[in-house]
Amino acid sequence: MAERFGSYQNEIYLQGYGGTKPAFSTDATRLEESAAQVLEPEPFFYVAGAAGSGATARANRAAFDRWKIVPRMLTDATERDLSTTVLGTPMPAPVLLAPVGVQSIVHPEAEAATARAAAGLGLPTVLSTASSTSIEDVARACGDGARWFQLYWPNDPEVCASILGRAQRAGYSVLVVTLDTWTLAWRPADLDRAYLPFLHGLGMAVPFTDPVFRSRLDKAPEDDTPSAVLRWISMVTGTDRDWTALPFLREHWDGPIVLKGIQHVDDARRAADAGMDGIAVSNHGGRQVDGAVASLEVLPEIAAAVGDRIEVLFDSGIRTGADVLKALALGARAVLLGRPYVYGLAHSGEEGVRHVLRSLLADFDLTMGLSGYRKVAELTPAALRRS
Ligand code: FNR
Repeated sequence: MAERFGSYQNEIYLQGYGGTKPAFSTDATRLEESAAQVLEPEPFFYVAGAAGSGATARANRAAFDRWKIVPRMLTDATERDLSTTVLGTPMPAPVLLAPVGVQSIVHPEAEAATARAAAGLGLPTVLSTASSTSIEDVARACGDGARWFQLYWPNDPEVCASILGRAQRAGYSVLVVTLDTWTLAWRPADLDRAYLPFLHGLGMAVPFTDPVFRSRLDKAPEDDTPSAVLRWISMVTGTDRDWTALPFLREHWDGPIVLKGIQHVDDARRAADAGMDGIAVSNHGGRQVDGAVASLEVLPEIAAAVGDRIEVLFDSGIRTGADVLKALALGARAVLLGRPYVYGLAHSGEEGVRHVLRSLLADFDLTMGLSGYRKVAELTPAALRRS
């Protein structure tokens, strides 16, 4: 039985018959504004900020406006089934929670609250290597819920293998390897505040609970946090790799592997040639290369080149149901949502994440129906017109 996500609308309008106003907006394009009211400037700008002038983040949003949906009528779209399966993971709608590190800076329950909200709706969570909660604790919070693991690739192979082994044992089924952040970009909003949460020992739960990483230290992280932090940062930043490095991941990961950060069609082809199972067309929400192409801009050519060989996921700029529909029509199998759910977490923890996710799913469900589609497989570029 397909989920009727659109019914969230009825709950809001009808609860107690007089309706119940949500605690914060149902419009994810407005959550940055309201999150600024509930967060201190440092964490707020860490989440909202982007690389350089912010041009890439703006381009990500502008790219969605260049595509318009052309609705179809009399298509019998009353009953809709938005469910899909991506890389062996069934999901009630093609939406995953993007890996976002160091969530403790916006809410004390951090990644565990996010994982509970996602699992409650059946959506997969992608856990970041820069998590403030351990791999095992987030797995417990997920319960039976689907979970994928995102890797920032340590340059110590034994530490890397140890982390991957833990993720597999804890039930994370897909590995997402982020390629675009081998070193941190120039981010003026954080630089102007001299704020990097990791240097305060935050977002370190994965290495600090790792026995092999701990064996590399003279003193335990609890006894000498700054040295442990610096050791970890030097392991995960500053090393760019090339395509010959990928077999290492295959050796240490049994399930599907996705390369995240692909923006060029040749890189997408190489990922497929290298035997990868998927790619995430993503520019990290505009947080890495300033002045870069919008992620949605490159999606159609990448999907056309490799969509029949590997699974193409998409992120960067998704805010509304229409955005999800457009990305799927342009060739994505599923999308990852980033900042909006983090703003939900900042507003009210698990319940806040749930509200953001339910709002997106309801908006997507209603937009699908009103545009004349019953299943995500029906979406093709013919659903859109470029203006
Ligand atoms: C991220 N992102 C990210 N990606 C990743 O692979 N590992 C990580 O640890 C993080 N951490 C992170 C922190 C914060 C605060 C943000 C906003 C983003 C990038 C994320 O997975 C995703 O690519 C973008 O957030 C998508 O863009 P939108 O939806 O935020 O526009």
